[in-house]
Amino acid sequence: MLKVEDLHAGYGNIQVLHGVTVQVDGGEIVSILGANGAGKSTLLKTVSGVLPAMRGRVLLDGQDISSRPPNRIVRLGMCHVPEGKQVFQSLTVEENLKLGAYCYHSAQDRKRIEEDLAKVFTLFPRLAERKKQKAGTLSGGEQQMLAIGRGLMGRPRMLLLDEPSLGLAPIVIEAIFSTIRDLRQEGITILLVEQNVRVALEIADRGYVLQNGRVALEGPSKALMGDEMVRSAYLGLRKR
Ligand SMILES: Nc1ncnc2c1ncn2[C@@H]1O[C@H](COP(=O)(O)OP(=O)(O)OP(=O)(O)O)[C@@H](O)[C@H]1O
Ligand SMILES: [Mg+2]
Repeated sequence: MLKVEDLHAGYGNIQVLHGVTVQVDGGEIVSILGANGAGKSTLLKTVSGVLPAMRGRVLLDGQDISSRPPNRIVRLGMCHVPEGKQVFQSLTVEENLKLGAYCYHSAQDRKRIEEDLAKVFTLFPRLAERKKQKAGTLSGGEQQMLAIGRGLMGRPRMLLLDEPSLGLAPIVIEAIFSTIRDLRQEGITILLVEQNVRVALEIADRGYVLQNGRVALEGPSKALMGDEMVRSAYLGLRKR
């Protein structure tokens, strides 16, 4: 479904990604692991078109999307839930969700937006209870739910999630990850960036370890979990 080929990207003259190749098949959950500054968020930003690629290609269903603007990419079915949630603090929960559907706004789409809203509220009943509340007054976990819910309002076939567990309590992380599993069951393909390596490998089919903007290691989650480098550097486990 998604193919990232030899991707080079960065900011101004600072190059961050040095030839990253990643593939995600339809229906998969794939995790991107790596230390702070490895280039994980930069990879997602380049894939979703927020950041232009310097070299290499991003293919969605075989179609080259590397030079498409982000709103076009959303329309093709890919949605990016950025790091740090970035919900509009002074808008209500409901207003934030409706903004997620911005590219569908037209009279005949109103019904569709209402349907999607109802679906997000079923998925996150906490958001339904707080739909008139300003997003800035939500808890961290609720804001994360809102960010994911807003992404779902674009009816994606593929979700790019950047650190959905950041700063959340274990019980909230469990709830978010259980939702991610449900979304996959519904047929949404997921590319997940996650610092919490244990949780990320538990949920993912496969993973890639980024180091200094390059793929250092890739493979099925089980194999990565057994890898000495992953165990010592990311799981805090000693040699067996
Ligand atoms: N807007 C920017 N301008 C300049 N450099 C940036 C910008 N955003 C990120 N960088 C740099 O790019 C490198 C990779 O950053 P990136 O955000 O992709 O890392 P990451 O793997 O997501 O890290 P983290 O786990 O901390 O979120 C870092 O060295 C960072 O300082
Ligand atoms: Mg990041």
